Amino acid sequence: MMNYDLWRTVLFRMPPELAHFAALSILKYAPAQLFAKPKPNPIKALGLTFPHAIGLAAGLDKNGDYIEALYKLGFAFIEVGTVTPKPQAGNPKPRLFRVVEDEALINQMGFNNKGVDYLVANLKRWPRSGIIGVNIGKNKTTSLNQAADDYVYCLEKVYPYASYITLNISSPNTPELRQLQQPHYLNALLTTITKACQKLNAKHQRELPLLIKVSPDETPETLKHLSDIALKNGIAGLIATNTTNTRPLSSASASKSKAGGLSGKPITDKATQTLKLLHQLVGHELTLIGVGGIHDAASAYQKLEAGAQLLQLYTSLIYKGPQLISKLTHAL
Ligand code: FNR
Repeated sequence: MMNYDLWRTVLFRMPPELAHFAALSILKYAPAQLFAKPKPNPIKALGLTFPHAIGLAAGLDKNGDYIEALYKLGFAFIEVGTVTPKPQAGNPKPRLFRVVEDEALINQMGFNNKGVDYLVANLKRWPRSGIIGVNIGKNKTTSLNQAADDYVYCLEKVYPYASYITLNISSPNTPELRQLQQPHYLNALLTTITKACQKLNAKHQRELPLLIKVSPDETPETLKHLSDIALKNGIAGLIATNTTNTRPLSSASASKSKAGGLSGKPITDKATQTLKLLHQLVGHELTLIGVGGIHDAASAYQKLEAGAQLLQLYTSLIYKGPQLISKLTHAL
């Protein structure tokens, strides 16, 4: 079995974004036997059967370059993206910061990705033996009023290759994006998207589940409206949550003052509160995916208690290593 502590020491000496690609490049060539096997615990949700509850959150494999490599780690499902219609560079580097004392990250990536066509080429190569969620967004230069066009464009492209689609309207790093969660924009957005989806469902003879990824920084009133509009439009699930703009950090780390979305251990409670509220609003009508700060069995269990059927993680993979996935499946 691999010893992550040693790898972590080496990787944490590199700038975070370089470490990210170094780790993924090594993973591509690592034999699957290096990683502990997860304990199967099949879960039926979204019309799919997940081998267990733990999936990879969006943002780690934005372009679908590492699907096969990441499946070696034992994830039950992988969410690729966020992808946008046109390729875009994202924000200037450095744009990813570790807050080591808090086991947290602050990112200001800004949807850096190679565009939906590049992702589709990768998805076509994948033998489709695992569950793949595709997380879609809008280009930075697209106005909020035109945003639906970007989502529909991506939806049409990835439709045949995705197990489910996530509408990302909650990243803090694309200016104004989070406004799409407000009733005025969300109503218009979902009306257009669900219409497009109905056509695609008929064309492809399958119903692809649509999920919305929610921010942890919204008021209960916004979440209430969002839930109502999601239910009215046949949305299949909600993912709670994305990163936060707030800074519930204990450490005096210099990175603490960086702008961007905070993820990892310090956002656990905030993300779980949002999840809990959403569960109270939608009951069992929608599938809830809990994400944000899962770093051990207790924090994972908290999300299940708050109403999640499935879980995702990202930041704790960086701090605790791949063995966490198997550990969680055995503990839950
Ligand atoms: C993210 N996240 C993210 N989410 C999303 O929907 N689209 C994206 O492109 C990204 N990109 C991204 C980059 C980086 C560097 C990080 C750390 C995170 C958010 C991620 O999917 C997740 O919702 C949060 O990170 C909270 O979970 P963790 O990291 O606390 O387990």
